[in-house]
Amino acid sequence: MDTFDQTAPAGGYSRRLKSLTDELLSSPSDRGRLRAAAAELYTLFSSVAGVGDDSTHPHDSEEIWLAGGKAISPRDAARCVLDSGRTSKFLRGLHAAILEARQRFPDTTVEILYAGCGPFAPLAVTLAGRFTPSAVRFTLLDINRRSLDAARHIFQTFGLSDFVRDYIRCDAASYRLGAGRTTHVVVTETMQAALEHEPQVAVTLNLAPQLCQGAIFIPERINVDLCLCDPAEEFKSTPAEVDEGDSPAGAGRDKHRIHLGRVLELDAESCRADDGHGLFTRAREFTLDVPEGAGGGLNLALLTSVNIFDSITLGDYESGLTCPKILFDLGRVTGGMRVEFAYRVGARPGFEYRLI
Ligand SMILES: C[S@@+](CC[C@H](N)C(=O)[O-])C[C@H]1O[C@@H](n2cnc3c(N)ncnc32)[C@H](O)[C@@H]1O
Repeated sequence: MDTFDQTAPAGGYSRRLKSLTDELLSSPSDRGRLRAAAAELYTLFSSVAGVGDDSTHPHDSEEIWLAGGKAISPRDAARCVLDSGRTSKFLRGLHAAILEARQRFPDTTVEILYAGCGPFAPLAVTLAGRFTPSAVRFTLLDINRRSLDAARHIFQTFGLSDFVRDYIRCDAASYRLGAGRTTHVVVTETMQAALEHEPQVAVTLNLAPQLCQGAIFIPERINVDLCLCDPAEEFKSTPAEVDEGDSPAGAGRDKHRIHLGRVLELDAESCRADDGHGLFTRAREFTLDVPEGAGGGLNLALLTSVNIFDSITLGDYESGLTCPKILFDLGRVTGGMRVEFAYRVGARPGFEYRLI
């Protein structure tokens, strides 16, 4: 599948797009339904853009290593849509942020920078149809040419090109916002659990301080916490069980954990207040005591939570981004051990840790 499929009528695509967007925004408590909507959205975008599991374009598997971390390949970026918790919550968060920005900046077009849009620009193409081009305008940015071309083709196919101000190929970690025009919302999802590998931190540290008063950065905050856990308790549920019911995805696991403290807080607002680097640097080194008697069969784990916008949060197990990262390489811990953590910003971002 390396050519664009032009056969389906744009009207049919648009109706499907609207109903899937409605479903993902409505946040059904039934996670199976959410998963089905995300899967259908992936199939729809994939058939239009020609990027998917079976695409053969030579650049679909191209990863790009940048100074702030890895830009995943167009094929992997496309698959992010399938993470239904992530897609739904980011969609709801961005939608709420646009409504809020329209209040804060009345009588102007809300300018949105989507940094790392991927081949489907899923958060933009779904929400565009809910507004008019004079109400919202997206600037789509990605380091990968193939992704940007695919995103452009998707907007054209859905007849939504008027919603796009520009397509920019560059590194979001060094991009300077246009001087003559205000950016009201920035959205970026260039991360993995525990802020490893991908450049979310570098992108946030670059873009958040450039925003004007009242502008919104999404996600607003990402926390990484350290805990002791029993892997047998963490991975007890089957995917089918996780899909059922109204309870939060990670419900039940937390009571088996011992929380040790926060190892990182990436807060876009604080980055803006002091240019980011000071506050972030202060939060980089940690030494944590493992409580006496708490060990014996427990592992250390990093827990990630993402505050997307306002009360819209991606919690424990709701997404691949918020699944615990169990530090199996440290082995089982015993009472009295101490561990030291530092977050490394750079081409290979992530935590460095050791028992001391
Ligand atoms: C995790 S994917 C997310 C794709 C899409 N935003 C979504 O929500 O499904 C991250 C995307 O950001 C791009 N990217 C990562 N780091 C980047 C950077 N520093 N500058 C520009 N693009 C970047 C990658 O090429 C990839 O397309």
